[in-house]
Amino acid sequence: PVNLRGRHLLWLKDYQPEEIRFLLDLAVSLKEKKRAGVKGNLLAGKNVALIFEKPSTRTRCAFTVACLDEGGHAEYLGKNDIQLGHKEDVRDTARVLGRMFDGIQFRGFKQSTVEELARFAGVPVWNGLTDSYHPTQALADVMTIQENFGDVKGLKLVYVGDGRNNVANSLMIISSKLGMHFVIAAPKELYPDEALLKECRSEGEKHGAVIEVFEDPREAVKGAHAVYTDVWASMGEEEKLAERIKLLRPYQVNSDLMSLADKDAIFLHCLPAVKGNEVTEEVFESAQSKVFDEAENRLHTIKAVIVATIGNL
Ligand code: CP
Ligand code: NVA
Repeated sequence: PVNLRGRHLLWLKDYQPEEIRFLLDLAVSLKEKKRAGVKGNLLAGKNVALIFEKPSTRTRCAFTVACLDEGGHAEYLGKNDIQLGHKEDVRDTARVLGRMFDGIQFRGFKQSTVEELARFAGVPVWNGLTDSYHPTQALADVMTIQENFGDVKGLKLVYVGDGRNNVANSLMIISSKLGMHFVIAAPKELYPDEALLKECRSEGEKHGAVIEVFEDPREAVKGAHAVYTDVWASMGEEEKLAERIKLLRPYQVNSDLMSLADKDAIFLHCLPAVKGNEVTEEVFESAQSKVFDEAENRLHTIKAVIVATIGNL
């Protein structure tokens, strides 16, 4: 039996496939519960801290509503609200918050910050996005693919665009664990990190996953069940946008590119989207686009993570 009590969620690399499937199954049941209008108490008496160095709509709201739905409390701590990074170092903040809260969400720049919080807090720490990874996003993305196709094993997920950002990295990791066929289409300059690619390929071999990287987006999306893209300049690299627009223009997800995918293919985007850059308005608004189911699923998957790690299960 899977037991995730007390676990951090920092990368997903350290999660076994059955642990990921456990979270996904829990998310499905929590979604049904929410749809039925049932209030829960799986987080009754639990206090959760939400640290944000970067802005957020979905992640912040998902953590907050997840706690409230199950009788817990969430406290938003924005970058100008606490001493972290100004007057206090990460390990002291971690030790203080760990004495008061049952779990800590961190969104920010450096992956090393969330890892250091986890080392010192003494309570579960969840990564709500860093420059390197976005693990809770990947859970919602797989849940959305599963809602459309059933078991994700063997399905082809093609990520088009910045092949080395947090979202691409986390999709590669989760795909390797769940035996998916994961493809990145990116210009050479934005190919995934070699070390991570190697790690995911060797993990993928154990679970029947295939991971490929293409420069040509048209070749990459052939037969795709899900076509995924993300912004061309992530939070913190806004100054790179002009250069990225030049580099990534051939990687725009438009109807022409979508027509090369499987006829039942869905379109995914973690949001927020810059329509006209990485995706056209037409694809974004098409029937193939499942981006708002995906956004909703952030709530259910994040709730599953909190409940599984600190909840009264
Ligand atoms: N997808 C996502 O993480 O959105 P936010 O930045 O709004 O949290
Ligand atoms: N790659 C994007 C994802 C936003 C949810 C960023 O880091 O800005």
